[in-house]
Amino acid sequence: MAKTKVEFVCRECGASHHQWAGQCLDCKEWNTLEEIVISQATSSKPESLKDLPASKVQNLTEIKAQNKDRLSTGLSELDRTLGGGLVDGSVVLIGGDPGIGKSTLILQALAKLNSDNTTLYVSGEESAEQVSERAIRLGIKEDILFIGETHLEKIIKLSKDIKPKVIVIDSIQTMVTDLSASAPGSVTQVRDCAAQLTQYAKQTNTILLMIGHVTKGGALAGPRILEHMVDAVLYFEGDAGGRYRIIRAVKNRFGAVNEISVFAMGEKGLQQVSNPSSIFLSNQENPSSGSMVMVTREATRPLLVEIQALVDQSNGTPKRVSVGLDQNRLALQLAILHKHSGIATFDQDVFINVVGGIKVSETASDLVVMLSIVSSLRDKVIPSKWIAFGEVGLTGEVRPVYNAQERLSEAQKQGFELAIIPKGNEPKKSIKGMQVIPVGYLYQAIQYLLENS
Ligand code: TYD
Ligand code: MG
Repeated sequence: MAKTKVEFVCRECGASHHQWAGQCLDCKEWNTLEEIVISQATSSKPESLKDLPASKVQNLTEIKAQNKDRLSTGLSELDRTLGGGLVDGSVVLIGGDPGIGKSTLILQALAKLNSDNTTLYVSGEESAEQVSERAIRLGIKEDILFIGETHLEKIIKLSKDIKPKVIVIDSIQTMVTDLSASAPGSVTQVRDCAAQLTQYAKQTNTILLMIGHVTKGGALAGPRILEHMVDAVLYFEGDAGGRYRIIRAVKNRFGAVNEISVFAMGEKGLQQVSNPSSIFLSNQENPSSGSMVMVTREATRPLLVEIQALVDQSNGTPKRVSVGLDQNRLALQLAILHKHSGIATFDQDVFINVVGGIKVSETASDLVVMLSIVSSLRDKVIPSKWIAFGEVGLTGEVRPVYNAQERLSEAQKQGFELAIIPKGNEPKKSIKGMQVIPVGYLYQAIQYLLENS
């Protein structure tokens, strides 16, 4: 008899280990390893996937470069994030915190998709009444097919019968398959369900939209494994209590990554915000110390975001907390501040926050973060009409960033009057109404701040 092989998979990041351990060696989370049995029967297909159309062998050079048809979701911003709409046979994973608006967004998109195609909404979380109530609230009149079901084999069987063009699975963590004996939401269940659904979608050219929950760490539960399987991954960002939501493509086989779209949650669902560049600013009447605006350009459009820092006397081990920015990078920035500008924070708690619940992963945020820290520590108010951007290297030099010109013009359009930027990004022509302070080193930026604010 073949020996069954087991593996230990991390629930948070999906990394597999040969041995059990208290801590995942990859993501360093504690108590997240789960034992899974690796199936020996790899040659036989699951029952549910039999009698699907066979894959066709083709000669690559003979395939016409046909621009794949894209279906519009009716939300132009979402289409743009997807790279121009939904591609036939593509699998999209939509992740986000509970209550952020995943089901709402998908229902709104289905209403449009359903006008020319059959669509099927599978919910394992909500009853038909709940979904129908939401549809009424959103003013949706289309006849979208609905089924409250969690049993994967039944869902695939039903799909084979009614052949929908678009299937929504809300959410993948509630689905169970006969292939796996473990509990719903466990790594094996989530992975096996997603794999079968993906295979079904690919072989029948069906668009599959999977909704997934995000755990506290920000990753989907049972998670990264899914990211590998699907064609595109969209994540919701934003404060669940706030009005605005950002949808970011973190992976996209059919479009640009990091593309974002912004929505506002209102009485009648999510409304698109087509010019979001300044909505995330807090617009304080009387600016206080520790806050500064930067222009990010992670997506194909510039966005003004406000970074806030709070530096306060620590009693005990100093805390370093960063919300919306990379925590490790904060330690590095504090070390650079000390080494190259003599600003010591070893006896201070340092908190950093990006206003509006957005995430900024660009290193162009270095300069703003560090200036905000200095502003809070020295209690110097940075004028609200100032912006900055720039990457700061380990030797204290301020390095140029991409698309500086575009960032500057966006800031100027929004009424900002002074920009502290890397010397390497100094514009050739002066910008009307905007004073540019090019800096080669961090200490120059700090000096300017301390002398002029
Ligand atoms: P939902 O789509 O159910 O979130 P998720 O599927 O991500 O868990 O959205 C839930 C929140 O959105 C809920 O707090 C109510 C709010 N909401 C509105 O504010 N306006 C609306 O039109 C709808 C449908 C929901
Ligand atoms: Mg939901």
